[in-house]
Amino acid sequence: MCGIVGYIGEAQAAPILLAGLGKLEYRGYDSAGIAVRDEATGKIEIVKEKGRLRALVEKTDNGKAVPGTCGIGHTRWATHGEPSAQNAHPHCTEDRSVVLVHNGIIENYQELKEKLLKSGYTFYSQTDTEVAVKLIDYYYKKTGTPLEAISRAMLRIRGSYAFGIMFHDYPGKLFAARKDSPLIIGVGEHGSLIASDVPAILDQTRKVYYIGNLEIAEITQEEVHFYNIDREELQKDLVEIKWDAKAAEKGGFEHFMLKEIHEQPKAVKDTINAYVKDGEIVFSQVGLSDEQLKNLERIYIVACGSAYHVGMSAKYILESLADIPVEVDLASEFRYRDPKLIENSMVIVISQSGETADSLAALRLSKEKGRPVLGIVNVIGSSIARESDYVLYTYAGPEISVATTKAYSTQLVAMYLLTIQLAKVKDKITEEREAELLTEMATLPDKIQRVLEDKERIQWFASKYANAKDIFFIGRGLDYAISLEGSLKMKEISYIHSEAYAAGELKHGTISLIEDGTLVVGVLTQQALFEKTVSNLVEVKSRGAYLMGLTSYGNYAVEDTADFSVYVPKTEQYFMNSLAIVPLQLMGYYVSVAKGLDVDKPRNLAKSVTVE
Ligand code: F6R
Repeated sequence: MCGIVGYIGEAQAAPILLAGLGKLEYRGYDSAGIAVRDEATGKIEIVKEKGRLRALVEKTDNGKAVPGTCGIGHTRWATHGEPSAQNAHPHCTEDRSVVLVHNGIIENYQELKEKLLKSGYTFYSQTDTEVAVKLIDYYYKKTGTPLEAISRAMLRIRGSYAFGIMFHDYPGKLFAARKDSPLIIGVGEHGSLIASDVPAILDQTRKVYYIGNLEIAEITQEEVHFYNIDREELQKDLVEIKWDAKAAEKGGFEHFMLKEIHEQPKAVKDTINAYVKDGEIVFSQVGLSDEQLKNLERIYIVACGSAYHVGMSAKYILESLADIPVEVDLASEFRYRDPKLIENSMVIVISQSGETADSLAALRLSKEKGRPVLGIVNVIGSSIARESDYVLYTYAGPEISVATTKAYSTQLVAMYLLTIQLAKVKDKITEEREAELLTEMATLPDKIQRVLEDKERIQWFASKYANAKDIFFIGRGLDYAISLEGSLKMKEISYIHSEAYAAGELKHGTISLIEDGTLVVGVLTQQALFEKTVSNLVEVKSRGAYLMGLTSYGNYAVEDTADFSVYVPKTEQYFMNSLAIVPLQLMGYYVSVAKGLDVDKPRNLAKSVTVE
């Protein structure tokens, strides 16, 4: 939530800051602002605007109205204080001696505010961030050095933060600090940058430093110095980002979401190819040995949102194929429920961003309880990747649309790979079965492509149902897990109320909501459960529901019950999710487009939920 950027170099800062914020707008889009130092006058100019970034771009004439080569910027997802120009960042002291942007939440801001009020500070906003800037100023006035002021403030602040900071007295410098919120430092040929995420700097450079928890960076055009909270200097290595800058552009598609849906064949293929070599799964880059996997007696999967739905799918597959008990938890519940984690178990944390606050907290709790953690993460160098004992990276590339699609698909593949390897080392499958599964998995990219080629039918159906009031998704077993994700896709971008139900659970209450014309999507990819779910469809149909059936080619019997049927290619039953989810992603997308909504940036949401 919230994106921050900073630039110091030879070029004009404002256009670079605005371009960077454009790439980070998925992190928040309630308001935006920039602060730039005008070298001619020495003054730091701050411009903020409520609403989308384009309002700020217009107000600053694309940055031209704010001259200077050093600045910071912010795009906001409001936590404390309503979205308004006043609450927008950057925040500053009255004399602008310190100017700051912040991503995160300062939990003890009330207590700090009271202390600062007693010391004579006044406040103009309702944000927790204004407290941070004034606290740093308080220590700056006491100590006279930015580094000491920042580190002393960090010792007092509880919560999470990534800060970009300018001190009026230090014209050639930017400062940055972080705890539990993402932050990278980019080193370009003509300047240095700070950003919450890689896409924001890819136009300028691919060379980055990752700044660690409770660390501070002092940044000039040519150099970056890192310090721990005791102000001892740290040595760091530059890392080269391999992501293609084009991957963070729309590339001719109307929306990032549609582009990312179409990138799924490639993302799935890249993830398979990263771990399958010469017909064998190779986990050397993950670090997990066969011996470790063999000794596992239980797996706990912890995640949020769509990543949690991947965990739900994985439970069915792991238990059935690898014969290992699996518990799946929402990270926000797991972290507060004192989970009992048995010996010889492993915790798997699934996260696209690698920065989700609840998932990170669940990871830390698992480690405190002495259990190894495997992170399944897309963003290289993110907090979850760094803090996990083992990391299985997914290769989705940058995902910009708030609603996840390709990252979800690669997380599924990661779980297939893990399951097959586990089943193999535990002697639950024969070599022939392993080869069969790997061969079938390799066909998924082409089969996803075939589903995509059928998108016009989904588009037509979506336009008919754009005004639906409620939609229900039902299925059993893996089909229930698919329904959960289909329903989330629909509600988050179309704002239509939708629910996913285990098909057998409907008549325990929910069926009373079915009225004439209510759309019910039945997911029927699991052969063994096909007839059971058909029976549930018949039950809702007789109460007036309009039925869409989603199944694989060959299951034409669905047409006896469903009013509209969608078919995907046949594959191994465990992999059906990879194909069946695509029409549901497309359906959510096209309903949102038909309603004229902002597909990539749905209201109230942000891509990476770094607050709990
Ligand atoms: C929904 C969506 C979210 C995320 C969830 C976890 O489309 O994207 O539900 O899946 O916020 O995010 P990560 O995977 O970054 O931990």
